[in-house]
Amino acid sequence: MAANPLALIAELTYRCPLHCVYCSNPIQATREKSELTTADWQRVFAEAAKMGVLHVHLTGGEPLGRADLEELIAGAASASLYTNLITSGVGLSQARLATLLEAGLDHIQLSFQDSREEAADWIAGARVHARKTELAHMIRKEKIAFTVNLVVHRQNLDHLEEMLQFIEQLEPDRVEIAHTQYYGWALQNRSTLLPTRAQVEASQKTIAAAQQRLAGRVRLDSVTPDYYARFPKACMGGWGRKLMLIDPFGRVLPCHAAGVLPGIEFESVRERSLEWIWQESSAFQKFRGETWMQEPCRSCAKRAEDFGGCRCQAFLLAGDANATDPVCSLAPERHLVNEIVATVNADLSFQQSAFQQSTLPQTSLQPSAFSQTAYSQTLLPQKVGGRNRFWSYRTNPE
Ligand code: SF4
Ligand code: FES
Repeated sequence: MAANPLALIAELTYRCPLHCVYCSNPIQATREKSELTTADWQRVFAEAAKMGVLHVHLTGGEPLGRADLEELIAGAASASLYTNLITSGVGLSQARLATLLEAGLDHIQLSFQDSREEAADWIAGARVHARKTELAHMIRKEKIAFTVNLVVHRQNLDHLEEMLQFIEQLEPDRVEIAHTQYYGWALQNRSTLLPTRAQVEASQKTIAAAQQRLAGRVRLDSVTPDYYARFPKACMGGWGRKLMLIDPFGRVLPCHAAGVLPGIEFESVRERSLEWIWQESSAFQKFRGETWMQEPCRSCAKRAEDFGGCRCQAFLLAGDANATDPVCSLAPERHLVNEIVATVNADLSFQQSAFQQSTLPQTSLQPSAFSQTAYSQTLLPQKVGGRNRFWSYRTNPE
């Protein structure tokens, strides 16, 4: 029997008023299937708790787009799950925050795109930065655990110190500086997002200095960029070992990107129990353990630490989900990563100032439109941007 999962990532909806160019949502998200109902999610949360899950991460898309979010949080809390809301904040008012807290919300993770308003709105594809800053101050006044997340990449790394100072004055309990991971929309936009080696090295020093400065006050975690690592990450703590993710339509996956892998059928909580899917489904067993591994992983001493790296990255880069993650310096396909890194480091034309050349999508949002009603009436299903001359904005499901 597989050990219990520790956390559940609940993607409540793929609808979102932002259009971040590094979004990990599937590029071909569709609206053809209906989202899970309130009762579906509440049943799933109870099942998860019974299996030993401790945390539920409520994410999307934008989870505030679910009008029943309070009921979902209450359902998770009554199952004794620790609830973390991962949000852009768009759609949050003082009144709604109060109802979420009353429902039992334990933790909020608020994302920022940059410290500079114009640059942040350019990355988000929406005019939201000023409002998000107000929200951060509003959240901080409440007694709730508060994390600020910032995704970094080639277009913002040159002013990382300034971004850290901006975040520091928001007084979070925890800061997460996450280098972009190249799946979904980020993979589409990799040539403009992948940082240079010099940026990565400088960022590591800046983060180490900030960790020292903030020690004892704010926890600062950082995710290193894969492509510059010697060995891969233990993606999701290993396939089907610690985490599971449920998409808005009920499919259960071991990670955000697994839907891209061909030939795997992911079961739905509409038809099967969560426990059965975790223990018995062929999808969760496919890359559990070590029998599926090829050389060099099969005989490598690090295989119990990184589990051969990321299956989705192996497929996306090498075309083989069973291959050693090409990020690994021992992988036969490492040359693929080396070539990408070499190209980015040779072409210094796409730098920070590039945002001057680009434009926001046509339907950029105005902060005044952020009441819940306006949110659901005007912001949810719009398609914006698509490809402009610099990068592709995330579009909403059609
Ligand atoms: Fe990890 Fe496989 Fe590379 Fe060894 S060869 S470090 S197990 S990815
Ligand atoms: Fe799917 Fe890493 S993202 S295994």
